[in-house]
Amino acid sequence: MSETPDPVLIIRQRFSDAIASAFPEHAGADPLVAASKNPKFGDFQCNAAMSLSKLVGKPPREVAKAIVSAVRLDDLAEPLGEASIAGPGFINVMLRTDALGRLLSGLSTKDMGLTVAPGEVRTIVVDLCGVNLAKQMHVGHIRSTVIGDTLARVLERRGHRVIRQNHVGDWGLPIAMVTSRVIALRDAGKMNLDTITLDDLDRAYKGAKIACDADRRGLEAARKWHMGPKALAELEEQVAGAEEEDRAARRVLSLLQNHDAATVAVWQRLSDVTMAACLEACRMLNADVRPEHSAGESSYADALAPLVDDLEKRGIAEVSDGALVIRLEDVGIREPVIVRKRDGAFLYATTDMAAIRHRVRNLRADRVVYCVDARQSLHFAQVFAGCVKAGYADRPGGGRTQLDHAGFGTILGEDGKPFKTRTGESVKLADLLNEAFERAMGELTKRSSELDAAEQATIARATATAAIRYTDLAIERTKDYVFNLDAMVKFEGDTGPYLLYALARIRSIFRKAASQGLSVPTLDAGAAFAPAAPAEKALALALLRYPGAVLDVERTLEPHRLCGMIYDLANAFSVFFDQCPVLAAPDEAMRRSRLLLCALTERVLGDALGVLGIPTVERM
Ligand code: ARG
Repeated sequence: MSETPDPVLIIRQRFSDAIASAFPEHAGADPLVAASKNPKFGDFQCNAAMSLSKLVGKPPREVAKAIVSAVRLDDLAEPLGEASIAGPGFINVMLRTDALGRLLSGLSTKDMGLTVAPGEVRTIVVDLCGVNLAKQMHVGHIRSTVIGDTLARVLERRGHRVIRQNHVGDWGLPIAMVTSRVIALRDAGKMNLDTITLDDLDRAYKGAKIACDADRRGLEAARKWHMGPKALAELEEQVAGAEEEDRAARRVLSLLQNHDAATVAVWQRLSDVTMAACLEACRMLNADVRPEHSAGESSYADALAPLVDDLEKRGIAEVSDGALVIRLEDVGIREPVIVRKRDGAFLYATTDMAAIRHRVRNLRADRVVYCVDARQSLHFAQVFAGCVKAGYADRPGGGRTQLDHAGFGTILGEDGKPFKTRTGESVKLADLLNEAFERAMGELTKRSSELDAAEQATIARATATAAIRYTDLAIERTKDYVFNLDAMVKFEGDTGPYLLYALARIRSIFRKAASQGLSVPTLDAGAAFAPAAPAEKALALALLRYPGAVLDVERTLEPHRLCGMIYDLANAFSVFFDQCPVLAAPDEAMRRSRLLLCALTERVLGDALGVLGIPTVERM
């Protein structure tokens, strides 16, 4: 990897080195380097002196002085001295203009200093989408799909080997219930499997679900361990005492488990219908989720019994009230993870343990990232801890696979409650996506552009995707948010369409340049930037934050950090464009330098939108 052109990353490293040399016993302390809030004080700040002062027992200004004399920044910044220390011990750093130009040239390569060195390439599994068989995708699947796809794209952009896994909920008693009901309806001549739609399946599912709920409640109770064995037994009985539909479903489940061809064929049909709708929604969301990424719960079905045997034999799991559980109190988790119920059935958690073992041992994952609702936090904490105990997270090559749950908040309706239709149904994702397209079309025609109908439709599709994806990504991942299509498709403010528009505007500058016979200088490592005006400098600093923002997302799995950075960039560009004439610049050298800034902004914005999975357009 070329050296990063991001000044924050470089300066952070230099201060870290300075702390290590001035205070060897505190080497590794966070240098707390960030961009300055107020350009009057410089471009960057190191705020480590205050926290170090407590550790070394010296006044913060003295600590700051020691850091200042140890830090090596002469190639980048104005000389540091006592005057650079402000207030209790903030160290202010001002970049030199020539250094800024050099960093911009460094960012002008195709790689942008983003790709990891060959030795640092990791294999990363991203668990995303996770739809459920025979159920309509609802608004919540936007998040598991969009955030998951974006994290995968970020990691790919860094040069990692990414394996997407769509952990489709396609197994277990609820699925057997629908399958059983569909078989019954077909045999009664009330359902034609060749023409069946996801809506039909959804209805069958809801009918089956009522019968299934007793079992579900039993599961829930079992999860809430502290309910006590008596309550548990009662609920288990309720499950066992379910009526005929339930018995039929259990027969179907066992047929499925034994690979009975005729039953599997019906199940396969349900799977095909569901996945066709799922993949179509993914296409509309511009999410790279393909059939080969599907690794549903069913794909682990045969692995569950041997896995549970293994856990039992090695004493990792123990029998408790008839169920087989792994106790986790010793790692701070009160509720044990249940891997086999009293009635012998396996659970969601058992499947997830099998999935981890497969991902670590067969897919050779160094890291697994789960993009799943934050309400499943306990589930993943238990499953991860269980796998660590069982050694399923130990990599064949040594070391342990990093397991991360990138949990997300809930999408709410205007009333602040989980998003539902007026009749209390969950909102179908396909309907929402179509509506977003209509609204985007409305916004575009309002602007009465002279685009032809086909181009307008293409742009409206990109705008709708940008609107939905950006809203979902720009909000802090763990927060809930209110779904408001009108706000999302606005062309002004912190929205996806605004960013698309900013990019299209730069592209139009190039078209105008071409029509005036002006050549746009090429963007490469030799590009000579000379940012001089405050607005040029501010734009340069905004551009140089890109590599650090991508790295931040890789580390924290929080795409909003990148969204915030590119929104700031679009605003910085807008100020620059108002204040600094480009094509009408006073002289040739300045025009070239400004055109280069435009070209680099176009590249960074385009690259960032690509990483966020937002399709771009030439004009709007
Ligand atoms: N199907 C699950 C649900 O709807 C999501 C699957 C998430 N992935 C996983 N490995 N558990 O809640």
